[in-house]
Amino acid sequence: MTTTHERVPILSISDLSVDYETDYGPFSALRGITLDVAPGEILGLVGESGCGKSTLGRSLLRLNDEASTRYQGSIHLDGTEVLSLKDTSLPSLRGSEIAMIFQDPLRSLNPVFTIGTQLKNAISLGGITDKRKVHAESISLLERVGLDDPERRLRQYPHQLSGGQRQRVVIAIALAQSPKVLVADEPTTALDVTTQKQILKLLRQLCTDTGMALIFVTHDLAVVWQLCDRVAVMYFGIVIEHGAVEDIFDAPVHPYTGGLLAAVPSLETEKGRPLATIERRHDGGQGGGGWDDDSAEFDAVSPNHFVRKAQTSRVDVERSSNDC
Ligand SMILES: Nc1ncnc2c1ncn2[C@@H]1O[C@H](COP(=O)(O)OP(=O)(O)OP(=O)(O)O)[C@@H](O)[C@H]1O
Ligand SMILES: [Mg+2]
Repeated sequence: MTTTHERVPILSISDLSVDYETDYGPFSALRGITLDVAPGEILGLVGESGCGKSTLGRSLLRLNDEASTRYQGSIHLDGTEVLSLKDTSLPSLRGSEIAMIFQDPLRSLNPVFTIGTQLKNAISLGGITDKRKVHAESISLLERVGLDDPERRLRQYPHQLSGGQRQRVVIAIALAQSPKVLVADEPTTALDVTTQKQILKLLRQLCTDTGMALIFVTHDLAVVWQLCDRVAVMYFGIVIEHGAVEDIFDAPVHPYTGGLLAAVPSLETEKGRPLATIERRHDGGQGGGGWDDDSAEFDAVSPNHFVRKAQTSRVDVERSSNDC
């Protein structure tokens, strides 16, 4: 586990805001995001649907539609300001500096090309041109992600693989150019728990072995506990609490974080107990006292734990009236 004084971030996001242009005017999807991640570290991103997790992930690679997206702030990746890059420089950023994997591996793979063609293409983009070297590298990558019989896998098409095998191929493609940072947007949500466990173990191992930093987007707090070093909790486009996983899980300060944690059932949860719900307080950053108030700064709860200012330490969880 990394400690504060050792951490030299590979990626620093500073006061990042992202607006989408829509038919109804600009929509503010992210506001004032400040986060960083160090080599080999795993940062979990959690928060309810629509809070901006995928927008943040895509923004790091400038994958949002450039014509309708406005960025402000800074994304500093190993000496490069991503938001200042010209469009023509983006292909060399993606893959070799930072890569992204998505929830549905079938959509990431082209159904009409073999695994070999797609993987070798990604390796060639990294600058290896000698055919034998590309082939050897593709076998080595498939072995690294734990796929059996790699020679045969290279000749297969995506539909001939299981969901877990396809996700391993997608990870192999993402690793083809040895990115310094990998963004994984709910990569295991569609997988059964056994396969999920294997993929999480693989990602952890890759970060330890190669020093790759991982930003892992998930709804699953148990996965954050198992996998991540640090976690950032998002709420309506802002980060409301972030820090070391142990610190936040042991003593959440923000009521929303407390609500999220309290909503996870455990084996000790009494049968028939009403489902926990979370009180929501948002004002679209208008400064009306919502949890997403733009003006809020962070308080350091400890050197590894930060929470938006002006939040009570009371964990405020409403219980729904529905029996489960
Ligand atoms: N291209 C777009 N144009 C306009 N609004 C968008 C666009 N993409 C996303 N949004 C909006 O931005 C907000 C954040 O969306 P985002 O997909 O980042 O959320 P998320 O946290 O990843 O949600 P989920 O957990 O459901 O995947 C949502 O309100 C969404 O409707
Ligand atoms: Mg998403």
